[in-house]
Amino acid sequence: MEDRAIVVTRRLPGVPFDSLARRFRAGAPPPDAPMARGDLLRRVRGASGILCTLADRVDAEVLETAGPSLKAVSNFAVGVNNVDVAEATRRGVRVCNTPEVLTEATADLGFALLLAAARKFSDAERFLREGRWTGWDPWGFLGVPVHGATLGIVGMGKIGAAVAKRSRGFSMRVLYHSRRRLPPEREAEAGASWRGLDDLLAESDFVVLCVPLTAETRGLISRERLSRMKPAAVLVNVARGEVVEEEALASALSAGRLFAAGLDVYEREPVVHPALLSAPSAVLLPHLGSATGEAREAMGRLATENLLAVLEHREPPCPVN
Ligand code: DGY
Repeated sequence: MEDRAIVVTRRLPGVPFDSLARRFRAGAPPPDAPMARGDLLRRVRGASGILCTLADRVDAEVLETAGPSLKAVSNFAVGVNNVDVAEATRRGVRVCNTPEVLTEATADLGFALLLAAARKFSDAERFLREGRWTGWDPWGFLGVPVHGATLGIVGMGKIGAAVAKRSRGFSMRVLYHSRRRLPPEREAEAGASWRGLDDLLAESDFVVLCVPLTAETRGLISRERLSRMKPAAVLVNVARGEVVEEEALASALSAGRLFAAGLDVYEREPVVHPALLSAPSAVLLPHLGSATGEAREAMGRLATENLLAVLEHREPPCPVN
């Protein structure tokens, strides 16, 4: 066994903890829940690598506690907003993530949320399960049409493009907003036209958020921006909760200033704003974007390969810095 230590913060699909533990000092098997902050700080001391999830805050304190032995932070997620990448870079620590392998699963979920919110799945199912259904109702649970509607995608990375691809089957007109406009051939491939964010919000019947959480995207969908959306529009968030001002969204939904929302992510996970919990027009999922067995196994394999590559002085497959 090598003298180097690693920390795996949680039991994860696709991460062969036992075989890693035969090669590196890895401590006790990781818990089946997020690692407590105190345990994380205790276990990272002198470690060479950390394999973590989005529930672990790998900030300056963790990096400082780990010390100069730390070479790799491998995140079991595509989003790396839980890692202080600037500080890691300053300390010469490679940060890696797991893009691509979860693209299709996340786009599937985004589109499922769009359909579910448009057609009031959650509210209608609740009604049925509560035994309140007394028969077919010509006025019951009237939704908004998806076919032929305008879809606005905010963040046209891989997941955004995969959502656009799904919309073709519904003959949707696709608008997109991202910091940089795509080259014309990529726009044509996605069948999407660029808009400024405010125009996209005003023109779209469905807005799907696919941006990473950064300093620029935190609070991007503010109260003011929500007010630009059509009252019959649907907002879907498969990005990060902090991209939306949750309080403002909750009040727009309760006041009927938006038709519905489909949310997979929240500002203070796992806490969900009480006004969202009580809004019948909100379809709420517990951060399931990448939750297929295939995607999660692939994320684990990639996160392991990222970690091993850095520790073996090879270029990792998915570096962030
Ligand atoms: C990610 O990868 O960033 C998702 O939010 C979790 O799979």
